[in-house]
Parts: sequence; C-alpha cells; structure tokens
Amino acid sequence: MNANEIRDIVEKHPSDRGGLIAILEDIQAKYSYLPEDALRLLAEETGTSLVDIYGVATFYSLFSLTPRGKHLCSVCMGTACHVRGAPVIADEFSRQLQTDPGETSSDGEFTLDTVNCLGACAIGPVVVMDGHYFSNVDSGQVKRIIKKTRAGLDDAQIKKHMRHYLYDVNCSRCNHSLMDPDHPIDGAPSIRLTMSSERQHGWIRLSALYGSFTVESEFGIRTSTVLDVFCPHCHGELKSPTTCPLCAAPMVTLFIRSGGVLQICSRRGCKGHMLDLEGAGI
Ligand code: FES
Repeated sequence: MNANEIRDIVEKHPSDRGGLIAILEDIQAKYSYLPEDALRLLAEETGTSLVDIYGVATFYSLFSLTPRGKHLCSVCMGTACHVRGAPVIADEFSRQLQTDPGETSSDGEFTLDTVNCLGACAIGPVVVMDGHYFSNVDSGQVKRIIKKTRAGLDDAQIKKHMRHYLYDVNCSRCNHSLMDPDHPIDGAPSIRLTMSSERQHGWIRLSALYGSFTVESEFGIRTSTVLDVFCPHCHGELKSPTTCPLCAAPMVTLFIRSGGVLQICSRRGCKGHMLDLEGAGI
C-alpha cells in the first residue's frame, strides 16, 4: 500500500459518511480490495474510528476485505435458482476456474462467489459477472461466459442502445408487465411500481425513456431518501443485493421484456441506472 495514494484519495472527498463510502470505493478500485493498513491510515487521516470504517466496509457487498480477482462471478444459490440447477453451475465454474466458491483463481483473474437470491428469480438460474446478468444459465454455457468475460464484456453494445431506447419491463419476481399505457410520461407508457418510505405507501411511475429520470409519485419524496420498491401485481420487493455504483444504495432489478436487465438505484434523485442488454443474450 502506498500511503501517499491513500492520502490523495482522502483529500478528494468530503469527511461525511457519503465521503467515506466514496473513499472506500476509490481504495478498492486501486487495490481490488480494502487492505487493512489502508483502513488504519484512513482512520488516522479522517479521525473516523476503525470500528466505524469496518462497519461501512462490511455492510456493503461491493467492498471486500480480501484480495479479489479482476472479475467477480456470483452464482445465485437462492431457492428458485437452486432447484433449477444452480449447484451444478457453481461446480462447473469451480472446475473451469479451478477455484472454490469464496476464492480467487490462481491467475488472479476471477473471484467465484455464491450468493442468496439476486431478486431475479423468474430468469433463474442467474449468474452475475461484473454486474452483467446472465439468465437461464446451464452448465454448458459456463465456458462461454468465462471466455466472453476474458475478452471483455462489451459496454459498446449497451451504449449503442442508449439513444431513444424505450424500456418495456416486467417484474423480476412474477414476470408481469409493469408498463402503464394509461399514464404516459415523456410521451410513452410509464413504468408503474409501488413504494414505501417513512411510513407512507403509494404508487410511483418512472419514465420508460432511456436517459430520462422523470418520476411521478403519489406523495412527495425527499431527495436522497432510499425507497422500498415493490411490484404492484405480486407485491414482491424488487430490491436486489447489488449496490449502486454511484451511491451504494440497493439497486432495484427489472427485466427488459426483449431480454436483459435494467437496474435502477433505489435512492431518490440518484442517477445510478444500469442497462444490461448483453448478459441475458449469451
Ligand atoms: S433465487 Fe436466484 S434470483 Fe432469486
């Protein structure tokens, strides 16, 4: 660890909790994990107790206290994925990467992880590689997923779809359409969800136009509030264990009807949305 690099990172960010998360993200980006000596120096430099720093570092799943590979592969072992063959898929990843779940391959390229429900049961078994969702995976696809990851999961293809892309999304729990043609926003059917926050519960509608962050809701929501978001049909909660790359709040997972996954940040006002049209198409 280079102490000056850590000091430079600390100087770039404010000293509040949001700043601490941003500092930890930068340290992890530099070292691929949070080295203990870096956290000790961070405590000294910011005057934050080591206990508080570890509290944040262990709360958010995006942080790791042990070295991680260049790519993070998470195989869902939740009930729905388990009964559709997730253990066989996890074994195949272990065999191909020659590493056990929770460990990193000897070439330092892949960390293999098994996780509980990723909130995308309707398209299980699910594997998430570097934030890209792969749906209905079977063991025969494992080699191709690894090969494609080594070659570079391609954001270019995602960007190509960004202009004028209209979401047509379904619930990630029950697969029911979430589109509301009777309540257009930006001239197109909106995405209807229900939400609760600070003891209030009501509808929220989002623009289906990629790049538009227009939101209408039954009651006012303060900026920065983290919402609990539900499907209006099955009432299942749509938050996933994935965290927002911008603010570390939980992401909400929705399915693109034509294939792929849309993740939106559950924090009001945050623009941490991720569109993954690639992963599902392997
Ligand atoms: S059990 Fe795998 S996504 Fe829910």
